[in-house]
Amino acid sequence: NTNTDYFIIEDKVVGGIFHPRSEFSHKGTYGRVTIIGGSYGKMGAVVLATKAALKSGSGLTFALAPKCGTEILQISNPEAMFVEGGDQYINSFDFEEDSVYGIGPGLGTHIETEDKILKFLGDYSRPLILDADALNIIAKNKKNLKSIPKNSIITPHPKEFERLFGETENSFKRSELAIKKAKELHIFIVLKDHHTQVITPEGKVYYNITGNAGLAKGGSGDILTGILTSLLAQGYSEENAAILGVWIHGKAADFAAEKFSKESMLPSDVINELGNVFEELN
Ligand code: APR
Ligand code: MG
Repeated sequence: NTNTDYFIIEDKVVGGIFHPRSEFSHKGTYGRVTIIGGSYGKMGAVVLATKAALKSGSGLTFALAPKCGTEILQISNPEAMFVEGGDQYINSFDFEEDSVYGIGPGLGTHIETEDKILKFLGDYSRPLILDADALNIIAKNKKNLKSIPKNSIITPHPKEFERLFGETENSFKRSELAIKKAKELHIFIVLKDHHTQVITPEGKVYYNITGNAGLAKGGSGDILTGILTSLLAQGYSEENAAILGVWIHGKAADFAAEKFSKESMLPSDVINELGNVFEELN
């Protein structure tokens, strides 16, 4: 496609996007994040996403999960506030206008969860982050795609992408289809892979070159969701949040691999390297 602009996310681009924290600021300056997810047996995904949001700088961070996750979340993330959204799975919650939502980690696809998430998307119109089971729920009916708020960031891995938009022959075709869909739906598509692509509603493609095969482990994607939601809440534009977020995620993984090896590094180690990444950006 000759009409497409392709870019590599270079360190100097990221340096230009990043804003250091102002000394004259307070928690209200850095926004509110709400991670919605979790179901019995999949609470770890929300733990990781919430911790990644906290470690990426949001001012106030909430985990909205079912009741069975109360202790797990309050103990693992004491800095976050817990909001109950159901008993064993998400099926009821109210939303607030001033929070930025990241939805999907460990959510499950229970029919009541599906109804609640689709109702929420119908009622809500600000940009948000959609991942994992939030995407699987949307994929159940192609009509749901239209209820994704404009300028939202969706973060499918290749399988989730195919569930949403149909099968593609190879990664090149997948990329082309993603450009078409990002334009049609006016959303950002973070097409996760070895080299993750950020595709904008204008059809620009940004390739990320940080990250490594140590990320090929359950839980890595949940961290990205937390980082992106946190950056969006802090006032970065959707485009800048997506570009900065995928770069930070990969860079933290590269630091974790140096310390622990690609084999042994865990998503939690990646979260713990976020500090070193922000130190380098500052
Ligand atoms: N090189 C670089 N980056 C990689 C590599 C690799 N070889 N493999 C994976 N990654 C990165 C991807 O770019 C992405 O950011 O790791 C992350 C993996 O994200 P997901 O595929 O969403 O994986 P996961 O964390 O397991 O998702 C958790 O959500 O998507 C569902 O089915 C999934 O239940 C699982 C849950
Ligand atoms: Mg995932």
